[in-house]
Amino acid sequence: MSEVEKVIELAKRRGLFWPSYEIYGGVGGLYDIGPIGVRIKNKIVNLWRKYFVEDNKEFVVEVETPIITPYKVLEASGHVDNFTDPIVECTKCHRIYRADHLVEDVLKVNVERLSISELNQLIKEKNIKCPSCGGDLGDVRAFNLLFSTNIGPYSGSTGFLRPETAQGMFTSFRKVYEVSRERLPLGIAQVGRVARNEISPRQGLIRMREFTIMEVEFFFDPEDDEVPLYKFEEDEINIWRAEDKAKGEEKVIRFKVKELVSEKVVVNPWMAYWMATANRFVKALGISNTFFEEKLPQERAHYSRQTFDQIAVVKGERVEISGHAYRGDYDLSRHAKFSGQDLSVFKKYPEPRAVKRKAVIINKDKLNNESKEFVKEFMTKVANKSPEEIEQMLATGFTIDGKKVSDYVVVTEREEKETGKRFIPHVVEPSFGVERCLFLSVLNAYSEKKDRIVLSLPREVAPYEVAVFPLLERENLVRKAKEIYLKVREKFDAVYDDSGSIGRRYARVDEIGVPYAVTVDPQTLEDGTVTIRDRDTWKQVRVKEEKLTTALGKLFSGEPIEKVGEGS
Ligand code: GLY
Repeated sequence: MSEVEKVIELAKRRGLFWPSYEIYGGVGGLYDIGPIGVRIKNKIVNLWRKYFVEDNKEFVVEVETPIITPYKVLEASGHVDNFTDPIVECTKCHRIYRADHLVEDVLKVNVERLSISELNQLIKEKNIKCPSCGGDLGDVRAFNLLFSTNIGPYSGSTGFLRPETAQGMFTSFRKVYEVSRERLPLGIAQVGRVARNEISPRQGLIRMREFTIMEVEFFFDPEDDEVPLYKFEEDEINIWRAEDKAKGEEKVIRFKVKELVSEKVVVNPWMAYWMATANRFVKALGISNTFFEEKLPQERAHYSRQTFDQIAVVKGERVEISGHAYRGDYDLSRHAKFSGQDLSVFKKYPEPRAVKRKAVIINKDKLNNESKEFVKEFMTKVANKSPEEIEQMLATGFTIDGKKVSDYVVVTEREEKETGKRFIPHVVEPSFGVERCLFLSVLNAYSEKKDRIVLSLPREVAPYEVAVFPLLERENLVRKAKEIYLKVREKFDAVYDDSGSIGRRYARVDEIGVPYAVTVDPQTLEDGTVTIRDRDTWKQVRVKEEKLTTALGKLFSGEPIEKVGEGS
């Protein structure tokens, strides 16, 4: 069994996750998250909130918007036209494949985002057949991944399940901006369910048809370069740049965060800010081997001007754990156009600025002396032109009826005071799939020790922080253990267990990743001490009951277990 398979087996057995609707045979790409899985998942979401929202609360707020999305919104966003994957159908057995994956599997080359006609050509040239029955494949076509539905009882009101939470932030931007005192930068965060009708979901929690996303749409003035990168002074980030990728070189380079800007790796410093934040968050999940892969233009989503996928390398698996897209003003401009609403913002300058403006001045007296035909032609050819266009006409000596236009119009420059500017904010988007984070955290934490499974999850994402047991199911030990459990629970996320042998109980908490286990034994009743056992080293120390929570606090602050024991 591979380690991935072992994790899937553990997940089923211990209630982390399993395929949904199993009693009906299951549905591909849909998973239930079980009791232990939900605890870990909630902690991952809370940790993300800490890094992305709480630590940035001077400019990031969180919202919740609906999953059901009207047609018009996803038409404006471009998803109705562009959110597609290529499919190909066998003409004999009618099985349908994702065309790019099929070509990749057969030819062992990367064909990410090749066009439909390029894929068609490859399939014909290389004579690729149906892997199932050997039949001829039909033409490659685009399959839209949106799940559609009908809103209300009347037909014709098509809606979709959202494929990303992002559109909720774009459509509510104006409102959130107003209630956030009309200040930029402004990050709007959201954690929520999304659905994508994947053609052939595989790899368990890695590619699902319904999952939870955590994303921030970060709105800012593209001319403002005050980005607090000093927060990441010492942080380093691994990057695989598109220019190297295009040359076929897998060259991952380590940069300091500020070098991402000075070396022009990112198109805007806010990209560096959120990539650095993502780097810290993923480290806090326990995953330290990551790099950011810059996508080639043809690999990017339709809305993106630059994209990096953050790749986590866990037990030999390379999995995209987050995406970082520079969406520019694409989404707000499209929604402004489709809704007819103004989604621009006005930014007041600290001091009014003097700006030089060109103005067109028509000599009306002179024009009034000309014939009606002349005036008509003059108005058609000259009026409504921009000052720059008229300057060009004048420079070429443009005439009407043999008369120089420059005798009737001049372009002058005047100084005006500008109090601010109106513009559509630009957007940088860091986006995580929660279930991927869950799966990768568990896979990363998985190890085996003397035929037992140990899940070395960081405290922040462990399903419980402390387990409390009686050594034996004796009434006086059970009573004492419950009493201690209630005390520990006031300070820590604790769980109590008194079923089965003590060995089984240790094994049970090790394999779901509980960092410490406290045991009440007969000695507790004599001298008031309990044992604390470390999940990863299995080392045990005794501490006085009244010092237990202080000792646990020290352990969670990184103190070695030997140092917290009695007499040390
Ligand atoms: N909003 C990012 C994504 O859809 O992947």
